[in-house]
Amino acid sequence: MALRLGDEAPNFQAETTEGPIDFYEWKGDSWAVLFSHPKDFTPVCTTELGYTAKLKDEFDKRNVKVIGLSVDSVEDHQRWAADIEETQGMAPNFPMIGDPDRKVADLYDMIHPNANDTLTVRSVFVIGPDNKIKLTITYPASTGRNFDEILRVIDSLQLTAQHQVATPVNWNHGDDVIIAPALSDEEAKEKFPGGWKALKPYLRLVPDPSAN
Ligand code: BEZ
Repeated sequence: MALRLGDEAPNFQAETTEGPIDFYEWKGDSWAVLFSHPKDFTPVCTTELGYTAKLKDEFDKRNVKVIGLSVDSVEDHQRWAADIEETQGMAPNFPMIGDPDRKVADLYDMIHPNANDTLTVRSVFVIGPDNKIKLTITYPASTGRNFDEILRVIDSLQLTAQHQVATPVNWNHGDDVIIAPALSDEEAKEKFPGGWKALKPYLRLVPDPSAN
């Protein structure tokens, strides 16, 4: 059965470009992004991996560890890294799981046989400090993912985990947020003593509490 939001992210042991890991030990109590690539030495994946390497400071700032996967070997990943550096200006600076027997890909349901029965789709799992799945994204092989969007969602997840708010359409860090509908006005007065702008009784906007 497919993994759903709130499910525990399954643990696994795997070979990676940075040595063997136990996923839970490697992750610790950080956040993690686990993302799959259909195949080594393919063009879209090459661009995604170079771009993700360039976002290292952004992931570090948010206490997020990044780990990639494809169903090729670690040796192939290592040879491919040179091409990624040459064409994208940066080689992956995070571990890449070698999964030729598809153990991890199957565990995370990353192979969708009606799309392709041997290659993974482009899956993304954002996993919280509690090892629960906070976000899943599935893209087809032909469409590169938007890693700025993944950072944006992580900002929202981290904000909403700390404050009783939700984030509106196209929200970015610093924009106004929505007071969680579960909070009564009485409760909201305690949490947000500066008040809010109520466009409707259920649509109450306050400044981003993390922007101060
Ligand atoms: C790519 O990464 O470019 C790719 C991989 C598999 C199928 C199609 C594109």
